[in-house]
Parts: sequence; structure tokens; C-alpha cells
Amino acid sequence: MLRITLKTLTLGVALALGGLAHAADPILIKFSHVVAQDTPKGKAAEYFKKLAEERTKGAVKVEVYPNSQLYKDKEEVEALQLGAVQMLAPSLAKFGPLGVKEFEVFDLPYILPNRDVLRRVTDGPVGRGLLDKLETKGIKGLAYWDNGFKIMSANKPIHLPADMKGLKVRIQSSKVLDKQMRELGAIPQVMAFSEVYQALQTGVVDGTENPPSNMYTQKMHEVQKDATVTRHGYLGYAVIVNKKFWDDLPADIRTTLEGAMKDATKYANDIAEKENADALEAIKASGKTTVYTPTDAELKQWRDALLPVHAEVASRVGKDLIDAFYKEAAAAGAPIK
Ligand code: LMR
Repeated sequence: MLRITLKTLTLGVALALGGLAHAADPILIKFSHVVAQDTPKGKAAEYFKKLAEERTKGAVKVEVYPNSQLYKDKEEVEALQLGAVQMLAPSLAKFGPLGVKEFEVFDLPYILPNRDVLRRVTDGPVGRGLLDKLETKGIKGLAYWDNGFKIMSANKPIHLPADMKGLKVRIQSSKVLDKQMRELGAIPQVMAFSEVYQALQTGVVDGTENPPSNMYTQKMHEVQKDATVTRHGYLGYAVIVNKKFWDDLPADIRTTLEGAMKDATKYANDIAEKENADALEAIKASGKTTVYTPTDAELKQWRDALLPVHAEVASRVGKDLIDAFYKEAAAAGAPIK
């Protein structure tokens, strides 16, 4: 009898302590990403961590894992869906392979003339509507974070579209990017971001495209002789969370995290342009890659060569969606056609 009582008592104490320990355990948000810490996305992830931990007074702990430490491109989205990580900021191109192919609209060459048009799209109903499409995949879209406009690189001068002919070029897994490279006569090769440096170094591919911040922080400029500031496409991110995890958070915590995300988003989008301008200067200063800035006439050749891609993929991406982008561009005084 006594033994049972003692046993029950011990169990009771253990449960009570367990309960206490549980109550004191912070909610853990694992935030995985594939780029370096010293990039717009890397810095914004760290800033979100700081704000989230401060504002929830330690009730939330954010662990940021940069540089594909945990997962490579496609795997990270699967990990989020399974709940192995809670937060990511994949590039917008990563949602096509997930079955939400409308996101590939952002990959269209010269669809976003500048950041003003980008903001109009992402901050308006078009941007919100796209994020909402992720919900059926168990994903909640919280925000858009900028990176920048892409440059094209190779191991030979590529001043004109015709110079791309026959080059093997690494792309993200996107049907639109595939089409874009084929339009130039190049041979696209899908590859995870973490593998690009080595593929360039060993000659598995001849060239690639990315904003300067990614090129520089992955040291791609050390294994590419030439780059051209074509600004032919945009690369940015959607910050996403596992929907069930997010919906199950205590309401006050969720509201606080939404506020932290709002401020981290402003920070990300405020620094992205300068980070990329600085990275381009750093690439030039390295002396390893010769950076070419095309003349207006040359830029027109790039645009003329690539704009047909819009019509060619309209049935896949959605003509109405493409038209919605055109509308914002025209309203911003930067018409596409
Ligand atoms: C890439 O794969 O080139 C980019 O999506 C990497 C990134 O997240 O910026």
C-alpha cells in the first residue's frame, strides 16, 4: 500500500516537473536556407531571429541554418511540409516543382522592369493570391523578401544573346528558366544551388545566372571569367512556414511573430538593392571576373531575344497572371512591351 502510494507520488512529481519543464521550453523555429549568411536573405533571417526572440521574451527560439547545412533546394520544402523545419525562404522558382507553377511568372525574363513594379505586385492582391495558393500544400506564405536582378556569367565574353549559344548553363528547376536558356541556344542544366560552385569549377557547366550577392558569396566569380549585367530576370523569395505549426501557435505568439516578420521584411527589402550593388563592385574589384555592362542597344537585343518566352509559356503560367504583371508595369510607367 505504502509502496503504491510512494510510486504514485513519484509519478505525480515527475509529471508535474515534466509539465513545468514543458511550459518553460521555448517554441523552436528552425529556419533553413541555402545561401550564405552575408546575403540579403541570410541577414534578414538573422534579423527575424533577433526580433522574434526579443519580442516573445524568449518564448520563441529561432535557429537559423544557412548555406544548405540542413537541406538542399527541393529537399528543404519537403522538410517543411513534413514539419522537420518550420520556416524557409525559398526562391520563388522553387514552387513550380511543388505544383504551384504560377510562381514561375517571376522567372520570366524582363517581366519586372524595376523594384517599384515588383513591390506593386508582391504587396498587392496578385502577390497575396499567389501565396494563398500554397495553403493546399500545407504551407503558409508570410512575406516576400527581395534579392535582386540576375547577371549572366560564363568563361568567355557574353555581350550579346548569340554569345550564349551552345553553353551549358546551370538553372534552378523551373520550366520557364529552361525555356529562357533554350531560347538563347544554351543548354540548361538543373542543379541544386550548393553544387553550382563545383560544377563551374570542374566544367560540368560553363555558366550560370544569379544576382551578384549570390555569385559573390558563393565565390562563383572565382570560377567564371566573364559576366554581363543583363538584369534579364529577377530572383526573390517567399518566406513560408509549416501551416499546421503556424495555426497551432498560441494566438499572442503568432501575432508577435507576424509583427517581427513585418519588420524583418522591411529590413530585407531595404537592404537587397545595396547588397547586390556592393557585391557587383566586389566581383569587379576581385579582378577574377570581367564584368561587362551592355549598351542600351545591346540590352535591347537581350530583351528582343527573350520576350517571346512570355507568350511561349503563357498557357503554363497563366495569361491573366502575366497580364496582371504587365498592368502593374504600365501603371508604374515602365511598360513591358
Ligand atoms: C538558386 O538556387 O540559384 C537560388 O534560389 C538560391 C537562393 O536561394 O538565392
